[in-house]
Amino acid sequence: MKKLIIANWKMKLGFNESLVLAKKISNKLKSNKNNIVICPDYLSLVSIANILKNSKIVLGAQDSAIVDSGAYTGEVSPLNLKSIGVKYVILGHSERREHLHENSAIINDKIKAALKNKLIPVLCVGEKLIEREAGEAKLVISDQLRRGLNKVDLKNNNLVIAYEPIWAIGSGKAIAPLEAEEMHQFIKSQANKILKKIVPVLYGGSVDSKNISSFMSQKNIDGFLVGGASLKSDEFIKICLQ
Ligand code: PGA
Repeated sequence: MKKLIIANWKMKLGFNESLVLAKKISNKLKSNKNNIVICPDYLSLVSIANILKNSKIVLGAQDSAIVDSGAYTGEVSPLNLKSIGVKYVILGHSERREHLHENSAIINDKIKAALKNKLIPVLCVGEKLIEREAGEAKLVISDQLRRGLNKVDLKNNNLVIAYEPIWAIGSGKAIAPLEAEEMHQFIKSQANKILKKIVPVLYGGSVDSKNISSFMSQKNIDGFLVGGASLKSDEFIKICLQ
């Protein structure tokens, strides 16, 4: 089955490095059975939109503002993102929750503003190691879903959820595939209760070309949010061609 594979380049590349990587990936990935999205930083978005113009790779952003325009110094408008060809936007990534103190109320506003502009939000949820060890992972995630998706209307819109256990991000220690499958089943049913719609749930956290096939075969894993392994063209292409 076709999976959605999203590259999250975070703030890891220089401007030129981003362009070179986008060119390499789009040149080498002429045909692929999965749906591929690249999320570069804001600076390189416009140039990468041009690079991807004639490819099947879709453009995503790593964040967007709570409103379309106004006195919001430093923010980037979802309306403007849409106008340059962005289709997906990652929202509520654990790094933003932690380093930028984003809470579920802000994330909820960002989701609504993105949907208003027909962007597809990729809502990230996931538990910390200490929460997992205390047996609270599902509780934490239900809360993130309930608050993040509060009054979100998906009648004419799409949304994706990314399950990213925080302890698995960038650690080289991905979750066990069967455990991920169980969490995905749980997240799908919780999200369905809130949204009255089945939405895809991606897995993120130390996905690479070696472990991806064990996740691919899980029924409720609809794709992947890939950080570190998306920064090397050969590695990312291997993942996309699975
Ligand atoms: P990772 O990052 O693949 O490097 O673990 C995933 C993410 O943070 O989205």
